[in-house]
Amino acid sequence: MNNNRILITGAAGFIGSALILRLLENEKTIIGVDNLNNYYDVRLKKSRLKLITEKSKKLKANWIFHEFHIEDKKSLDFITEKYSPSIVIHLAAQAGVRYSLDNPKSYADSNLIGFFNILEFCKENKVKNFVFASSSSVYGLNKKIPFVEDDNVDHPISFYAATKKSNELMAHSYSHLYDIPTTGLRFFTVYGPFGRPDMAPMIFANAILNSKPINIFNYGNLHRDFTYIDDIVNGLFGCCYKPAIKSENFSSNYQNKSYSNAPFQIFNIGNSNPIKIDYFISMLELNFNKKAIINLMPLQPGDVKFTYADISKIQKWIGYKPKVSFEKGIREFSKWYLDFYE
Ligand SMILES: NC(=O)c1ccc[n+]([C@@H]2O[C@H](COP(=O)([O-])OP(=O)(O)OC[C@H]3O[C@@H](n4cnc5c(N)ncnc54)[C@H](O)[C@@H]3O)[C@@H](O)[C@H]2O)c1
Repeated sequence: MNNNRILITGAAGFIGSALILRLLENEKTIIGVDNLNNYYDVRLKKSRLKLITEKSKKLKANWIFHEFHIEDKKSLDFITEKYSPSIVIHLAAQAGVRYSLDNPKSYADSNLIGFFNILEFCKENKVKNFVFASSSSVYGLNKKIPFVEDDNVDHPISFYAATKKSNELMAHSYSHLYDIPTTGLRFFTVYGPFGRPDMAPMIFANAILNSKPINIFNYGNLHRDFTYIDDIVNGLFGCCYKPAIKSENFSSNYQNKSYSNAPFQIFNIGNSNPIKIDYFISMLELNFNKKAIINLMPLQPGDVKFTYADISKIQKWIGYKPKVSFEKGIREFSKWYLDFYE
């Protein structure tokens, strides 16, 4: 067992909770922070925390949870004084593309002010590794596929994407100024058991089982690089124990945009296998043994048509290799959904 004193923000979230369940097998002390906001069903967040508590008891690990907003610097100061974490995995954020059109302020609060507080926290604690969540949405309407970390990402098409791109820039400046080993991970559409109710797998599963129509945008011409939660956790786990280093590939004419003279790295973390939305629905139909009612609609503002991750950079760095096929992933997700909700 290691004694790293890892802080995970967004501990009650989909990805954060899954990562903690894995880290408990490796670490003596894990500190979790989450404000348990009601962006989606809080009962789901609490049931994830319950699983963590049960597993920590079984493994006799030291699991500590604090409920607060990361915008509240005083609460973060308390964590510094009490635990002085050495590794920070920052997953707390206002997630979701579409909601950023309705409530942009919640994105400014959590993803900009909150993110700044986490950077200050990393500086004050002199952490030996900082890993944070970026998003595939930074690629906006880029047409060149697959998406590579060195592609231009200067044209976000949602405020959510703009906050994630801002996080990459903010983190780079702190990494450079204070020598903080920093890794930003661009997640590609994560799905699986205990997933987010605002995302397609949960929305579609609910609609199919309740015989309600599913709105399919861009008239069905949509592809997503769906990535199974266990693969994401494997990648996060690897980055947790491998702090970024200054890059040999850095050149001062910035040809390789994702490399830096600071200990800073950006990685795509996806499945590298885009799935068309109608195949995704047919897999849910198969697993639920029920037909979906489809309602074809135009593309929504802020939405992108295609996501597709080039994962060779993270593959080289930590040997990341997605293991769960889409078919198996949807089977696992469907089983969990029926068990949890029906
Ligand atoms: N799930 C995906 O497909 C996906 C894709 C790209 C990027 N991401 C990013 O990955 C991270 C984790 O995503 P997720 O799917 O687990 O989302 P999630 O919403 O399930 O988890 C985020 C957690 O952070 C908490 N939180 C939000 N704002 C907070 C604040 N101000 N203070 C304290 N806690 C706060 C929420 O209560 C929630 O439990 C996020 O940064 C998200 O933007 C996720």
